[in-house]
Amino acid sequence: MERTFIMIKPDGVERKLLGEIISRIEKKGFRIIRAKLFQPDRELVEEHYIEHKDKPFFEEIVEYITRGSVMAMEVEGDSAIEMMRNMIGATDPKKALPGTIRGDFAYSISENIIHGSDSKESAKRELKLWFG
Ligand code: CMP
Repeated sequence: MERTFIMIKPDGVERKLLGEIISRIEKKGFRIIRAKLFQPDRELVEEHYIEHKDKPFFEEIVEYITRGSVMAMEVEGDSAIEMMRNMIGATDPKKALPGTIRGDFAYSISENIIHGSDSKESAKRELKLWFG
């Protein structure tokens, strides 16, 4: 069993995709261990995206993620990290395949609805950061 950090971003909440996304996660067979719906502050989001600190779009991401509520989740299942990344689809919506969450619902590279940890190390770090 593996645990991963999943966040439905403000555009996912605004576009009323919470039910659709949670349903996909559950139907796949994963278990949602913890979840919270809240508006994260700048400090938390800057820390979450620390690896992108020097990218030109860093400020844009921070403003986007802090503009409204997100659903932060801890999701458990076999190979949950890799399988959730597969279900989420590519960051670039032009490359995200139909059937994936981004392939079906995202049309922007920056506002891409959902985040999932990309490795065991990231999952551990992100779960600790968002849930303590
Ligand atoms: P995520 O998978 O959460 O991790 C990094 C985030 O940076 C990514 O989703 C996007 O929201 C954002 N991002 C990645 N590439 C770009 C880009 N070229 N321009 C703006 N935002 C981006």
